Amino acid sequence: MKITLSKANKIEGTIEVPADKSITHRAIMLSSLAQGRSIVRNYLPSDDCIRTIDAFKKMGVEIKQDAKNLYIKGIGLKLNKPRGEIYAGNSGTTTRLISGILAGQTFESVITGDESLSKRPMRRVIDPLTKMGAQFMSNNGLLPLKIKGQNPLNAISYESDKSSAQVKSAVLFAGLYAKGKTVYIEPVKSRDHSERMLKAFGAQVEIDRNNVSNNVSNKVSILPAQKLNPQDISVPGDISSAAFFIAAALLVPNSNLTIKNVNVNPTRDGFIEVLQKMGADISINNVKEVSGEPVADIAVKYSKLKSLNLDAQIIPRMIDEIPIFALIASKAQGVSKVSGAGELRVKESDRIAAIVSQFSKIGVEIKEFEDGFEINGRGDFAPKAAEVESYKDHRIAMTLAVASLISQGETTINDAECVNISFPNFYELLKSASKS
Ligand code: S3P
Repeated sequence: MKITLSKANKIEGTIEVPADKSITHRAIMLSSLAQGRSIVRNYLPSDDCIRTIDAFKKMGVEIKQDAKNLYIKGIGLKLNKPRGEIYAGNSGTTTRLISGILAGQTFESVITGDESLSKRPMRRVIDPLTKMGAQFMSNNGLLPLKIKGQNPLNAISYESDKSSAQVKSAVLFAGLYAKGKTVYIEPVKSRDHSERMLKAFGAQVEIDRNNVSNNVSNKVSILPAQKLNPQDISVPGDISSAAFFIAAALLVPNSNLTIKNVNVNPTRDGFIEVLQKMGADISINNVKEVSGEPVADIAVKYSKLKSLNLDAQIIPRMIDEIPIFALIASKAQGVSKVSGAGELRVKESDRIAAIVSQFSKIGVEIKEFEDGFEINGRGDFAPKAAEVESYKDHRIAMTLAVASLISQGETTINDAECVNISFPNFYELLKSASKS
């Protein structure tokens, strides 16, 4: 599907964005492994999360859904051998997190995915899970993955060379099935939804306060579990989805927008911190805790911004916001350089290549590096009219859609329907918040 969008005069109102994708995946997984009935309120019914729901249905879990909630009857830590292959579609989170769970089962299973997922690296989970005793067969580190589980698994202490919540979660989930304490250390702390939710379901998770990087503990351990207790979980709005609306309100003159009920977990809020340093008028209001996660309303006003450099210390806290950060940097006065972000090359698309090629088309002065890019921003920048490629990557499509709001003419986005991966009503919500 192609979509054609054009300039908005202002972004205004009070909105809610869809539920957090990371939290929805984890809630489905842990509810499936719990002993009894859980409710997941306000879940994200996007393509990626539906892949996770289908995977657990295939392994014997009863999952009922209505427009708002999921009703999951967990069958305990031991799942049933899936009928056929598990199809993960475009979802890296489904594949990598489920690998940790399948590693601790006593059956053999196979995970497949779409063309993009089949190019994404899986050695990062194969390596630690093999050390724990599971056997993997893959296509040179790529899908399809054949997993022969082992129960119990070996408890390991694993020091990862990357900050990836998907890898960390796979190891922690496998740790539920291990013989002793499983330890995971990462360079900079990645999103900690798994740790928080595992605790809520009754698993024994410990954060090592003595092991810190940048004032935050980056070492976590888990003990094996006999059972998980079912929960009633409410999923907050996704800050990675809110990011596109925050950007729209910052960039379109006269805007004033409030986004209610957004997850502001400190391992996810790097984008807000960075924007405030650039001079953005953003305030975080009504902070409360819901289902073990901090949630708040975010108020944003149009702001004149200055450039800022990002490095490897901040990237994990805003990894999914780099494409939309790039657009903001194009309109922030001065040079912004992003480095230490090589992981962007192995996301749903090569996001560095995608940003550089499509931003060049719309007139951004941008230079490419192996681990990032550099943008020469101008306060008066207005993208040129163009036909642009999303590379079937939801976050690239949404970034280009926000660019159209400040464009000199019409922007046509190819394969625009990929927003369904994380934000099914994205274009409708953008239209309703854009006032002409
Ligand atoms: C996610 C972790 C991140 C992120 C992805 C979701 C998760 O990936 O980019 O969209 O839910 O754990 P990495 O673990 O590869 O950094």
